[in-house]
Amino acid sequence: MNNKVLLDNLRCIPDFPKKGINFRDVTTLYKNGYCMQIMLDELYELYKDKGITKIVGIESRGFVMASALAGRLGCGVVLARKPGKLPATVIKESFSKEYGVDTIEMHLDSIEPDDVVLIHDDLLATGGTAKAAYKLVQHFNPKKVYMNFIIEITDEGLHGRDLFDGIELTTLLTI
Ligand code: PRP
Ligand code: MG
Repeated sequence: MNNKVLLDNLRCIPDFPKKGINFRDVTTLYKNGYCMQIMLDELYELYKDKGITKIVGIESRGFVMASALAGRLGCGVVLARKPGKLPATVIKESFSKEYGVDTIEMHLDSIEPDDVVLIHDDLLATGGTAKAAYKLVQHFNPKKVYMNFIIEITDEGLHGRDLFDGIELTTLLTI
């Protein structure tokens, strides 16, 4: 169920970064201590018993809660980064976005087969970013993969969730 405090504090910016995109700006949740507490408590309740060993945070807005939750769960954080940022050997995946093409990379030694992985990002829109992250994580063949997003966009004809049939996927806000 959507938390009213989170909904009330989420800023929407029409026509950013281009006309027709209604930009859900998670930074207004991140800057609010009470919202941070609510989000972290909800995430902890969802994942405390899942045996998560690594959280993959997607650059950049996914890094914030990935790190906070990892601190609470006592698990590791892995960075899925935009191209050319990671220094060691990487695997990469390109994908289409609502507005353009992008690539994400992960270090080749970031996940082990005995890991239980939670992929986290702030937002699920088309699902392109998350699908690329999922493909990268699958490359490591981990024990189990969960997915979480703070915000799931279901208006504007988006059905990102449909890309992840059979995968345990949670979101804190559905808009
Ligand atoms: C945004 C958002 C998600 C992704 C969602 O990131 O933070 O990562 O797009 O869109 P999708 O489901 O259609 O793929 P963005 O690429 O704008 O970068 P940022 O997080 O670094 O701001
Ligand atoms: Mg992002």
